[in-house]
Amino acid sequence: MPSIDPNEFRRVLGHFPTGVTVVTGMNGAEPVGLTIGSFTSVSLDPPLVGFLPGRTSSSWEAMAPAGSFCVNVLGAGQGDTCWTFARSSDDGSRFDGLDWHTEATGAPVIDGSLAWIDCETEQVIEMGDHYFVLGAVKALGGADGDPLLFFRGGLGTFSPI
Ligand SMILES: Cc1cc2nc3c(=O)[nH]c(=O)nc-3n(C[C@H](O)[C@H](O)[C@H](O)COP(=O)(O)O)c2cc1C
Repeated sequence: MPSIDPNEFRRVLGHFPTGVTVVTGMNGAEPVGLTIGSFTSVSLDPPLVGFLPGRTSSSWEAMAPAGSFCVNVLGAGQGDTCWTFARSSDDGSRFDGLDWHTEATGAPVIDGSLAWIDCETEQVIEMGDHYFVLGAVKALGGADGDPLLFFRGGLGTFSPI
């Protein structure tokens, strides 16, 4: 079998559009979070969701011990938040200027997000250079508005056809 070139893998997989989330958690008293596109609904009964952080993600490592996380689904007006939480080094300033509160688990819910899904970590499975993190949903909410979408390296929103 020929090996798959990583740049070609990224280029081709970039044709698959995703929503944009910021997965947040607590590191002691400090909120931490990172931008995640690999969020998915997993099960309705019981309610489970999942996402895939890289195995080198310092934010996942920081929030994992608390055993909970919140998936904040970004709206069309939150493009800056997407890039802030995707910057390569977290100097502790990602939450500057953001309002947030907690719901069931203590993980940060970013105010103004399109939806939020508050979870207790159920399972973490190593998968290649990522983990698959499975969460049991403890509380959730959503608001009206347009989503933020990621496609071929850029941001946009949804337009019906
Ligand atoms: C739209 C978008 C989607 C992303 N999705 C993921 C993802 O699913 N998993 C992941 O590990 N990184 C993803 N990233 C990259 C992380 O946000 C980025 O590596 C970030 O710096 C990680 O933060 P950390 O180093 O503090 O853990 C995504 C970035 C963007 C812009």
